[in-house]
Amino acid sequence: MTELSVDLGKRSYNILIGSGLLHEAGRLIQELTGTQQALLVSNPLVFSLYGEQVVNSLSRQGMRLVVAQMPDGEQYKNVQEAMKIIDRAVQAGLERSGVVVALGGGVVGDLAGFVAAIYRRGIRLVQIPTTLLAQVDSSVGGKVAVNHSEGKNLIGAFHQPVLVIVDSHTLLSLSGRDYLSGLGEVVKYALTFDADLFSCLEKSSEQILSRDLTVLEAIIKRCCELKSMIVSEDEREAGLRMSLNLGHTFGHALEKLGGYQTYTHGEAVVMGCMAAAVLAMQLGMLEEQELKRIATLCQSLGLEYKFPHYPPEMVYLHMQNDKKVQGGKLRLVLPEGIGYFAIRDDVPRQAVLEAIAACQALAP
Ligand SMILES: NC(=O)c1ccc[n+]([C@@H]2O[C@H](COP(=O)([O-])OP(=O)(O)OC[C@H]3O[C@@H](n4cnc5c(N)ncnc54)[C@H](O)[C@@H]3O)[C@@H](O)[C@H]2O)c1
Ligand SMILES: [Zn+2]
Repeated sequence: MTELSVDLGKRSYNILIGSGLLHEAGRLIQELTGTQQALLVSNPLVFSLYGEQVVNSLSRQGMRLVVAQMPDGEQYKNVQEAMKIIDRAVQAGLERSGVVVALGGGVVGDLAGFVAAIYRRGIRLVQIPTTLLAQVDSSVGGKVAVNHSEGKNLIGAFHQPVLVIVDSHTLLSLSGRDYLSGLGEVVKYALTFDADLFSCLEKSSEQILSRDLTVLEAIIKRCCELKSMIVSEDEREAGLRMSLNLGHTFGHALEKLGGYQTYTHGEAVVMGCMAAAVLAMQLGMLEEQELKRIATLCQSLGLEYKFPHYPPEMVYLHMQNDKKVQGGKLRLVLPEGIGYFAIRDDVPRQAVLEAIAACQALAP
């Protein structure tokens, strides 16, 4: 088992990474929190796969357990579903000393985290992420939210977990699409922050595709380290944390244009990273050779990077509506070589439009 810490003063916590940790969850949670009460939040798919293991491990510690399930899907990440979970907590008499345990992907993690942030003005949260995206990204950093009909993640809070338990074994049951979606975020980390990680992905593409858990655990560890370092510096996204969003302004526009149905978040992020890379090359921040390396890596991992054929002006309009825009200025995180980034708010509209058009013309 690998242990990492997220340093946030009194709100610091550990991320544990290993295979088979679900069986240990009860002991780990009990040792840390000393609590006797847990609200386990999941969805029917994840619960059918892993619920029993987690329930048993919590019960072995003599914990009183309430299970609350939300339906599977982003469309259920809303206030109504959060209220149903809170109703369960109230009926079961969940006390402030209890703990919310989120077992699932980013959707379950965000909604359970939101419940933990507001129930009795905030109770402790343990994240047990079961998708690659949640293991490398959403379970760490304390952003919790539900969607509003007018926009994603509009209602939320910063509420750090007290523990994150990553059982790599859960990755083996993920659908191919959800697995690749998480890999999209992994490529983003490498491109933005870590040339060594980028080379490692290039060298290990076969093991990654065959879901070699030793390789995956090393990758998850590195991504969590990178995210922890950034979150420790800038918990509330006043500056540096924005760097985690390379490719996301383009990506969010695509998700929106696809009605949040056509592309998963990770798929949109890959296309967005490529658009950011093409733009960076046009601005003289990235070599053509480096752009080729990014495209080749995506290809070898089976990640689609060609930008879909929406009119570039329409994409731009949605990019401007992204919540990262400040004072009407488009702020973009762009790669500056592989493994480095720069935040730019001086990129002309025309350059962005040209980059989108160039990405639409890329060879697949
Ligand atoms: N809080 C943050 O910092 C942050 C960061 C990135 C993304 N997010 C949020 O994360 C969400 C996306 O998360 P996601 O990609 O994990 O999607 P998801 O939670 O919808 O999971 C994808 C699918 O995989 C299923 N699943 C989960 N674990 C499984 C397993 N081990 N085996 C088989 N199937 C499994 C789920 O039931 C679901 O059908 C979005 O709502 C996004 O806004 C939050
Ligand atoms: Zn993302």
